[in-house]
Amino acid sequence: MCGIVGILGNTDVAPRLVDALKRLEYRGYDSAGVATLENGTLVRRRAEGKLRNLEALLERSPLAGTSGIGHTRWATHGAPTTANAHPHKAGGVAIVHNGIIENYLELRDEIAARGTRTETETDTEVVAHLVNLEREKGLSPQEAVAAVLPRLKGAFALAFLFEGEEDLLIGARKGSPLAVGHGEGEMFLGSDAIALSPFTDRVTYLEEGDWAVVTRNSVRIFDSRNNEVERSESRSSVTAALMDKGNYRHFMAKEIHEQPEVIGHTLSRYIDLGAKQANVSGIETAGFANLNRLVISACGTAFYAGLVAKYWFEKYARLPVEIDIASEFRYRESPIGKGDFALFISQSGETADTLASLRYCKSHGAVIGTVVNVPESTIAREADVMFQTIAGPEIGVASTKAFTCQLAVLATLAIHAGRIRGVLSPEREADLIEGLAAIPGLAVQALKQEIAIERLSQPLSRTANALYLGRGTNFPLALEGALKLKELSYIHAEGYAAGELKHGPIALIDENMPVFVIAPHDGIYEKTVSNMQEVAARGGNIVLITDERGAAECGDVAGKIVVMPDVHEIAAPIIYALPVQLIAYYTAVFMGTDVDQPRNLAKSVTVE
Ligand code: G6P
Repeated sequence: MCGIVGILGNTDVAPRLVDALKRLEYRGYDSAGVATLENGTLVRRRAEGKLRNLEALLERSPLAGTSGIGHTRWATHGAPTTANAHPHKAGGVAIVHNGIIENYLELRDEIAARGTRTETETDTEVVAHLVNLEREKGLSPQEAVAAVLPRLKGAFALAFLFEGEEDLLIGARKGSPLAVGHGEGEMFLGSDAIALSPFTDRVTYLEEGDWAVVTRNSVRIFDSRNNEVERSESRSSVTAALMDKGNYRHFMAKEIHEQPEVIGHTLSRYIDLGAKQANVSGIETAGFANLNRLVISACGTAFYAGLVAKYWFEKYARLPVEIDIASEFRYRESPIGKGDFALFISQSGETADTLASLRYCKSHGAVIGTVVNVPESTIAREADVMFQTIAGPEIGVASTKAFTCQLAVLATLAIHAGRIRGVLSPEREADLIEGLAAIPGLAVQALKQEIAIERLSQPLSRTANALYLGRGTNFPLALEGALKLKELSYIHAEGYAAGELKHGPIALIDENMPVFVIAPHDGIYEKTVSNMQEVAARGGNIVLITDERGAAECGDVAGKIVVMPDVHEIAAPIIYALPVQLIAYYTAVFMGTDVDQPRNLAKSVTVE
């Protein structure tokens, strides 16, 4: 998965391509490249590593030309070397690609049999060769692309640039998103509206199987059967401003600290404070009052938000929830159909597996809802009902504020569903709403533990393994804590339901094993204390995250205690997410890893 961009401009495009790529770095950052036409001749610059390496290369060795394509890569086929970096080139054809060409080995053998050798380990290069071979037969660029596209299996968004064709870009999409941007005498292609935001807010999203022939003054769009089609233009509301870190060292730190505010914004969209009611528009028309079950699917941190929500929907709305990781759900052939409601949670709205699960449910007649942060994303556009998180752009690869905002929306959804299903009394609903409304203030208090957390994270940076334990809604939080530590600091960590400890993970415990226990003083706190005793008896090194009562009643089992403010049970997973995030953040800072762009990861996973 990668980000792609193409520009037919009126000024030199290389700096503009880089500007667009900066906004696409969330899709991958292990190499980057651009190609332009200098007096009609294809020229390229490519660099391994972060985009800044490509920028430095272009400073030393600039590219002229007003037509060009660019790419930022997350390697799927072939190591992240300069040779494997896009754009790829064959004869007079250059290409950038987001996705996976699944039949590339077969195609490579075919072109080898025709006497053409590939130079890279990528799945992409074969496409450039196939188009070039068609060109050598005398086909026009458009005819050549039309001949090759039906032969490609897998998922792709492609942009083609042709030597000698200063006024032509061809884009194609199947499975990966691609948008056309309309300027004044200029035209653009980009993976999303964010990439195009510095240039235009007039955007046409290509539909599945579409391909587009773009010149400075026109765009012709064809469907997969090569019929010319009309696709509507829309106005994008994405801001062109590049995000900055403010006074923070990392975007992640900034985003952690934004949480009191953005959770507040999100809650205020879905809560009527005067009436002390959840007020989620769309939920009644979506049929929540009579649903027999709710199906939830998502990936990564968003999946853990869904796991928390399962507890809420079942407890507060008596609505059974079936939840699965999207990469499993999409192939599970789960029975789903008319009368079902399926909910997809995603920060980016572009995660390939989540989107495929959504399409599976849609094709079987289910009503589709999404909790999504990017309202113009593919998932947002394909859902029937959108519940937007108002987290603002999240740049740090490890999700923080999007997660807590997802939880905020899901909590209000569960409460609203509880009311219309006749489960929650007005008093109970008012109590839950007050619990949620207190979150922004309590989050500010929770963040005051930052210095204490920084201190306790220093020794953690020398450990090789860690365990996270929690019960109830804090169990998904334990999973999230372990994920955060793994992705940021590369320390192996596992999250477990505290009660499951004795069924295996207890064998791992010795004096070298840090064990984080997430346990507000709730109805099951005492059970968790027993589990901590089991850890302490084996020498485990416990860090307990709890409230004042919990701290007073834990005996002497915990080596360290992080004290959170008292919170309502519905607010706990949101407030307790903050110390969990800070632990992973400071451990990574002490280890010196790349906090905002950890190795091997990408913010938006657009391949399966
Ligand atoms: C990647 C990101 C995670 C995110 C997951 C799902 O793995 O690194 O932070 O939780 O994708 O992404 P989504 O955009 O669908 O929430």
